[in-house]
Amino acid sequence: MPASPPARSEVESLHAYSAPLEGRRGLLRLDFNENTVGPSPRVVEAIRAIPADHYAIYPEYDGLREAVLASLADMAGAIVAGADSTAPVPAVALAVAPAVAPAIRTDGVPAPVTGSLAQQPARRPSLRIEQVGLFNGVDAAIHALFQAYGAPGDRLLTTSPTFGYYTPCARMQGMVIEAIPYRMPGFAFPFEEILSALTTPPAEADGSWRPPRLLLLCNPNNPTGTRLAPEAVLALAAAAPHTLVVVDELYEAFTGDSVLPLLLAPGGRHDPEGAAGADPFTAYPNLLVLRSLSKTAGIAGLRIGFAIGAAAVVDRVSRVTGPYDINSFAVTAAFAALADQPYVDAYVAEVLAARQWLVERLVAAGVRHHVDGGNYLLIWPQRPAAEVDQALREAGILVRSMAGKPLIDGSLRVSLGTLEQMGRFWEAFVLCDARPA
Ligand SMILES: Cc1ncc(COP(=O)(O)O)c(C=O)c1O
Repeated sequence: MPASPPARSEVESLHAYSAPLEGRRGLLRLDFNENTVGPSPRVVEAIRAIPADHYAIYPEYDGLREAVLASLADMAGAIVAGADSTAPVPAVALAVAPAVAPAIRTDGVPAPVTGSLAQQPARRPSLRIEQVGLFNGVDAAIHALFQAYGAPGDRLLTTSPTFGYYTPCARMQGMVIEAIPYRMPGFAFPFEEILSALTTPPAEADGSWRPPRLLLLCNPNNPTGTRLAPEAVLALAAAAPHTLVVVDELYEAFTGDSVLPLLLAPGGRHDPEGAAGADPFTAYPNLLVLRSLSKTAGIAGLRIGFAIGAAAVVDRVSRVTGPYDINSFAVTAAFAALADQPYVDAYVAEVLAARQWLVERLVAAGVRHHVDGGNYLLIWPQRPAAEVDQALREAGILVRSMAGKPLIDGSLRVSLGTLEQMGRFWEAFVLCDARPA
């Protein structure tokens, strides 16, 4: 019998990336860090209003990039004016940063950038539409950026454990993966190690050493929640001009640790002359920021995500995607979701309150856990995690086992939802984790 032709050798040695996505409807889904209540009613209305004959037409994207830009400028303004990131800056970042990022105090706490963007329009840098790429979810952006930048033998530098999709994307390009573990105890970001891997050849390296092609930073990190101050991200990008530094900000709404408010702040380093409309990525042409409407806006099922960076990088990443990769439903939903920021803000506030409530219960009950940024936390049950996972499933609650992941084997990652949902989770967890008398 003739055999099917083999694929590229990198693909032959891959397994399809699979996640336990089936049969989840009707259950309390705390396994994929999704929004647990669904999108704004305005999104639902907008989708319902699409006439059936429009299904027959290829999607149109006009105006969507502008809507993303407007929403980013509003968000950056709100963060700049209000409570911004409180993630400490690693000491080494302070040494690297003065040349690149202005707003760092010597005690390691980012100095707040003051003054609303709206109040200082004349000196405000602004993003252009060529700096926003639209993708069929951030996963598609990740896939595309690896395709555009990762050649066989190139290095991907990242952390471990982190979001699982970076690894297969690197492997399918034939890249070499260097994953630096978070620091224990507490899963601190390994800043010095990452900086050194970016900039310093190992002692045994021969003259052919080159910096990594890609650095993937997940901030806050999924699944450890580790937060990295945006100033530290900028410091890494400035230290490695030949590396594409990608910061996956999928969960930034829960921490405020985004690089964008810094880049869009009036009079920053990117904008030394204070010129109106300066390019916020001038000083960071190797930085790409990933954002999605999946988790906070509640449209994970519709698939839309964004990559924001220097126009040249966005152009290269967009070259390897199809012309109609984002469908019309996602486009309509995105317009409506971006127009209803108060809905997202209210959901984020509810999740943060629920997190506090749950953490108080975990502390009082002496349950080992780890919580930091993001709409999720890690819990180590007393009973084997697989048994508790299964018992919770039987009680109608899905969580994600971290079995086999470095540093967190034996834990469960539990997504955070509303107070009522976390109440249901806690009640079930206490029963499922109780040892038989
Ligand atoms: C860190 C991280 N990046 C990217 C994604 C994918 O996001 P999207 O739904 O936009 O493809 C996820 C989804 O779980 C994630 O956790």
